Amino acid sequence: MRTGAARIVGRRAIGRSIVELALAVPPAFPEPRPGQFVHVRVPGDALVLRRPLSVADWDERERVLRLIFRVVGEGTARLAALPVGAAVDAFLPPSTGFPLSAVRAGETALLVGGGLGVAPLIFLARALHARGVRVKARIGFACAEDVFGLRRLRAVADVELYTDDGSAGAKGRVTDGLGPEAAFHAAFVCGPVPMLRAFQRMFRGDGRPIYAALEARMACGAGACRACVVPVAEGSALRHRRVCRDGPVFALASLHVAGVPEDGSPDGGRGWADGGGFV
Ligand SMILES: Cc1cc2nc3c(=O)[nH]c(=O)nc-3n(C[C@H](O)[C@H](O)[C@H](O)COP(=O)(O)OP(=O)(O)OC[C@H]3O[C@@H](n4cnc5c(N)ncnc54)[C@H](O)[C@@H]3O)c2cc1C
Ligand code: FES
Repeated sequence: MRTGAARIVGRRAIGRSIVELALAVPPAFPEPRPGQFVHVRVPGDALVLRRPLSVADWDERERVLRLIFRVVGEGTARLAALPVGAAVDAFLPPSTGFPLSAVRAGETALLVGGGLGVAPLIFLARALHARGVRVKARIGFACAEDVFGLRRLRAVADVELYTDDGSAGAKGRVTDGLGPEAAFHAAFVCGPVPMLRAFQRMFRGDGRPIYAALEARMACGAGACRACVVPVAEGSALRHRRVCRDGPVFALASLHVAGVPEDGSPDGGRGWADGGGFV
């Protein structure tokens, strides 16, 4: 069973419209892997579609998973308003997650996250650290009020913090000063599409494994409706792959990032399917 009635066992505001929910999941709920997301049913008749949210952390012993999300619309507002004790119907699609085997014990993993893209990196950093990997994390936010995950990340990683306005950490972007000379064996990135584009340009032709977790507007979340497809290069062919089932994690070099919609909608109003060439 990949779905089930989870129960909210913790809820707190952790920033400007950012909420953390702790969900205790039933015994039959599969163990999530870093990079995977849960598809959560939102209470209320009008909202038929579930909302995808990354697993930000997982406590194996307590069987509690954590979600960190920004309230951006009705669905996230309703989820954020649920009280501790409320039941939530959560489904774990059999998505890819980050390939932990890309980096071995004693090697270095570079994690780069922007905004809410930092959420899945917390779980990833803990999992890599537990395998003996040295974890370096660069995380960026708009301003100090948006910063989250710092304490948990610092427990397992060397962390560099950036804010756009310099109100916490260094002023600048997570990609500032990064380049092909950066020392890492594998990199994992999650953040807004412009950040992925910058990263892809910077490491074009770099032979090291670099993976990106993508967002897309989703409907079924189970691989059936193709609402979430993005263009992915496979050899010389460009294929449409489902973010919910074939992703959300892809090799960065394979992504036709120029064609990935910035707002997660199927064409982002920009007709990515017509876009030519790889960035
Ligand atoms: C695999 C995956 C993991 C995600 N993990 C997180 C997470 O850990 N934390 C988090 O805060 N958000 C995450 N998101 C985005 C989150 O799913 C959306 O913010 C949420 O579904 C919005 O629902 P809503 O009803 O509140 O907003 P709506 O009323 O549906 O939309 C409000 C605004 O949010 C935008 N939006 C809606 N859905 C998406 C989406 N899927 N991707 C990008 N923009 C969207 C809309 O374009 C609109 O501007 C993730 C998305 C995906 C696909
Ligand atoms: S959301 Fe239906 S196939 Fe991905």
